[in-house]
Amino acid sequence: MGGVTIQAGAPVVLYIGAANHDPQCKQHLSFGRGIHHCLGAALAKIEAEVALQYMPPFDVVSTKLRKSLLFRGQSELQVTIR
Ligand code: HEM
Repeated sequence: MGGVTIQAGAPVVLYIGAANHDPQCKQHLSFGRGIHHCLGAALAKIEAEVALQYMPPFDVVSTKLRKSLLFRGQSELQVTIR
């Protein structure tokens, strides 16, 4: 995989966040894929859409990434309201 040989039986940890930043990966994997695709994906998207409707228009000034191997995200997000 990617030029690396993985021995049979070796433990492998997959990072969805890393896959989402792979330029060769055309689809995002935030809600997983296949038979275990997130059951709440549709609800989560509607919730995000509704939440954003109540936000005034804003510009992102700066962000700080949180330190986590498993979940990417911001620990800080500075915005200016237009
Ligand atoms: C932004 C919000 C959410 C994200 C990013 C997310 C992400 C994911 C991911 C990546 C998986 C696949 C895990 C795997 O392959 O092992 C998953 C599975 C699942 N999610 Fe979500 N999820 C979100 C919201 C929700 C909500 C709101 C619900 C329920 C109301 C939900 C219910 C589930 C369930 C039941 C599964 C297991 C599906 C299965 O194993 O067949 N999720 N989710």
